[in-house]
Amino acid sequence: MDRRSFLGSCSAGAAGLTAAGGFQDAWAATARPKEYPRALLVDERGEPLKASGLKPQLNYVFHYPFEATPVFLLDLGRPVAAYSVSTQDRSAYSWPGGVGRNRSIVAFSAICAHQLVYPTKDVSFISFRKTRAQRGVQDGLIHCCAEHSQYDPARGAEVLSGPAKQPLCAVLLEHEPKADTLTAHATLGGELFDQFFRKYEMKLSLDVGPNAKNAVAGQSVVRELTRFCKNPVQC
Ligand code: FES
Repeated sequence: MDRRSFLGSCSAGAAGLTAAGGFQDAWAATARPKEYPRALLVDERGEPLKASGLKPQLNYVFHYPFEATPVFLLDLGRPVAAYSVSTQDRSAYSWPGGVGRNRSIVAFSAICAHQLVYPTKDVSFISFRKTRAQRGVQDGLIHCCAEHSQYDPARGAEVLSGPAKQPLCAVLLEHEPKADTLTAHATLGGELFDQFFRKYEMKLSLDVGPNAKNAVAGQSVVRELTRFCKNPVQC
């Protein structure tokens, strides 16, 4: 039985027990980091990205753990602590908080947990908003304009509002203090990559090509969202 099936069966078991006897908390499955090949984050020239050079509260995008799966990289401008969240199937996990010298740098899959809207080179309906979006509930949210799901990147991308049923999947970063570099090495939480590849198979093969499902290994290029995407939609 693979990890996903195992967690799924644990959750199904937990749900059954909840219905039968109300033991949900005691029996909830626990999501654990899923390791992928390590990828050093580099700038557009291919040089290792300096974590302290990130502009606070600006949207950056890189791809991980697959060539076609985008991730938001954010320096929230303040330290962010670990926080407990859970997936739609009630797998609880402890998001480890920010990394870097100020523990302010976080990364989350940029694939909306509702209906998988994601940033492309042409348009992005999902992004971090430094100040409250038109229908935002607070400043500093990741907001998806499709149906207004809103996620708090300072709290493990938990859902604050909208139809999404679980946090954005976290991408775990390792900060090397001496070189001030960042390396992506794992995901944590509710992955939606299988659904993403099924839903966008044709589009991804046109936009990204035959390597869309290849695991990123070695390095991944970080770009400001406004350089990656021609039309970041605000709402
Ligand atoms: S796809 Fe993001 S809110 Fe529906």
